[in-house]
Amino acid sequence: MLRIDTHISRGPKVTFRIDGQAITAYAGESVAAALLASGLRRLRTSPGGGGRGLFCAMGVCQECVVEMIDAAGASHVVASCQLEVSEGLELRSRTFVDGH
Ligand code: FES
Repeated sequence: MLRIDTHISRGPKVTFRIDGQAITAYAGESVAAALLASGLRRLRTSPGGGGRGLFCAMGVCQECVVEMIDAAGASHVVASCQLEVSEGLELRSRTFVDGH
């Protein structure tokens, strides 16, 4: 875990999933920050097969995009650095064959 442990207060714990893996995070964190803290740095695959992940952390580069699965099962491409964690959130990492 890559979080600061002292002199900081956090929101309540929440659990979300990416590619079926449960991730514990704290309310108020971005998905990208929570994934980084959990050791998951590869969020999508480039056309050349390389890994991509958190880069600008401010919604500009789109290197951190993932798919958010809604209650109806539809997926929506979102920048994980701009998406706040929430209980039960379902995500999927992306590959170039997805079209991006
Ligand atoms: S890291 Fe650049 S948009 Fe998320």
